[in-house]
Amino acid sequence: MRVLITGATGLVGNALTDLLLSEGISIHYLTTAKNKLKSTPGKTGFYWNPEAGEIDESALIGVDAIVHLAGATISKRWTDSYKQEIIESRILSANLLFNLLRKNPHEVKQIVSASAIGIYKDSLDTVYREDATQKDDGFLGHVVQKWEESIDKFKILGLKTCKLRTGIVLSRNGGALPQMAKPIEWYVGAPLGSGRQFMSWIHLEDLTRMYLFALTQGLDGVFNATAPNPVTNKDFTKMLAKRLHRPLILPNVPAFALKLLLGEMHLLLVSSQNVNSEKIRNAGFDFKYNPLGEALDDLYPQ
Ligand SMILES: NC(=O)c1ccc[n+]([C@@H]2O[C@H](COP(=O)([O-])OP(=O)(O)OC[C@H]3O[C@@H](n4cnc5c(N)ncnc54)[C@H](OP(=O)(O)O)[C@@H]3O)[C@@H](O)[C@H]2O)c1
Repeated sequence: MRVLITGATGLVGNALTDLLLSEGISIHYLTTAKNKLKSTPGKTGFYWNPEAGEIDESALIGVDAIVHLAGATISKRWTDSYKQEIIESRILSANLLFNLLRKNPHEVKQIVSASAIGIYKDSLDTVYREDATQKDDGFLGHVVQKWEESIDKFKILGLKTCKLRTGIVLSRNGGALPQMAKPIEWYVGAPLGSGRQFMSWIHLEDLTRMYLFALTQGLDGVFNATAPNPVTNKDFTKMLAKRLHRPLILPNVPAFALKLLLGEMHLLLVSSQNVNSEKIRNAGFDFKYNPLGEALDDLYPQ
């Protein structure tokens, strides 16, 4: 099997590449950075520039499935121009792949794409399954809906389209966890906002195992990629502090202070999505890390 990965040089993509290679799956990857182009046994890099509509077409040779992870990070201040980049980096890139497949003979049967739980409306009470109709009507909800639409288009070409609505990915190497751990390590950690907002998280290793599962099982449709037991921000902060052997002394950081500091992006920290992942479990996927304590034990071994 050969898989073409976009965004392969990022947090998820790096770990996924290692896992697929260890399973004997060969990798083609597309990168926007020429200095990240490398060929090693089982893995070959190709250049693309989605904004300019440029792509090395030989990336498609022998490919059975595409994994679409590319996208500008959402953890950077949401100015108007950066918001545009967040959207375009996901959608222009998907469209470029779509047109490449449409115009060329190929053997691609499936696209598996990252998506995000930010599609669901901020709520303390609702438990979100994949068929939820309450979509976030803010910027993030808009991005994710457009992103998923750009993947659904591949159905016209006869591909299976699998979208993994990903929660907060836990890793020591990047993403939210080191950012949460830092203030705690410096004795200035505290729950954010009310602290009651749900954080639906997933260990990076489980997420990469889920991509592998989606590829080998030929999954089609949308799946929540979150561990079975989401926790509130207050509980998450407490458990992380315990794991790091630090006290929590300060009161909650008020939402307005976060807004002053981060602008609209503060919504990432205070909005609540309690997400249910029964659908992927019913499809046969087993989480290795659940509940949160087990994930933190693995990430911060004592
Ligand atoms: N980490 C999380 O907690 C989380 C949660 C929910 C959803 N997701 C989604 O899952 C996907 C992978 O996440 P990640 O944490 O691995 O992201 P990441 O570390 O930020 O990596 C994303 C990759 O996308 C490519 N990229 C960046 N800007 C781009 C642009 N303007 N145009 C085209 N490609 C661009 C880069 O690859 P090159 O430099 O090689 O081009 C980069 O390595 C992302 O789409 C993210 O939104 C992540």
